[in-house]
Amino acid sequence: MPSPAVLSPAPALAAPTGTATRPRPSLVPPIRRAGVPALAAALAAAADRWLHLVEYRPDSRWTHLLPSADAAAVLDPSLHRELAAAEVWLLSWLPGQGTPLHDHGRSAGAFAVVRGSLTERVVAPGRPGRPGRESTAELTGGSVRSFGAHYVHQVTNSAPVPAISVHVYAPRLTEMNTYSFAGDRLDRTGTEQAGVDW
Ligand SMILES: [Fe+2]
Repeated sequence: MPSPAVLSPAPALAAPTGTATRPRPSLVPPIRRAGVPALAAALAAAADRWLHLVEYRPDSRWTHLLPSADAAAVLDPSLHRELAAAEVWLLSWLPGQGTPLHDHGRSAGAFAVVRGSLTERVVAPGRPGRPGRESTAELTGGSVRSFGAHYVHQVTNSAPVPAISVHVYAPRLTEMNTYSFAGDRLDRTGTEQAGVDW
């Protein structure tokens, strides 16, 4: 079985010194949906090269937009086409930290658990007269979850140890809506700018 598409050996990424650079939109090729989970899995497999960037914050979850050049540096060039249209975030989760129910705007995405475990709650409104759907899954290290636009979930670290995950979105996140869910109703409760807090 082929190994994940990761360059090895290679040096660890340097600590961030500025803001992320983004390719010019006109130069960004359309992404293949299959490439998003592949990127998440490959970045998780290359975690040893970026784990030193991770911080933990007791007051709120830590999030970090990984510059495209840094993500490219740990990936096999065969994934650079997918990466050009995507955005990579690193997240840490102390025990008890989590998100509200949220979507990802127009973006599809995938995330991989790198350390610890995360609990994912997924909800969907019911059709008229039908109950909504709700499911919960425990995602341990190595798990990769992928989703399309309009996917609504809540992610929490319910375990007693910290967790780390890597998230890939395409197209890049612009905003995220938060929701409440009561049986069959999914009501939007707010809109947050990507990266501020989710
Ligand atoms: Fe999410």
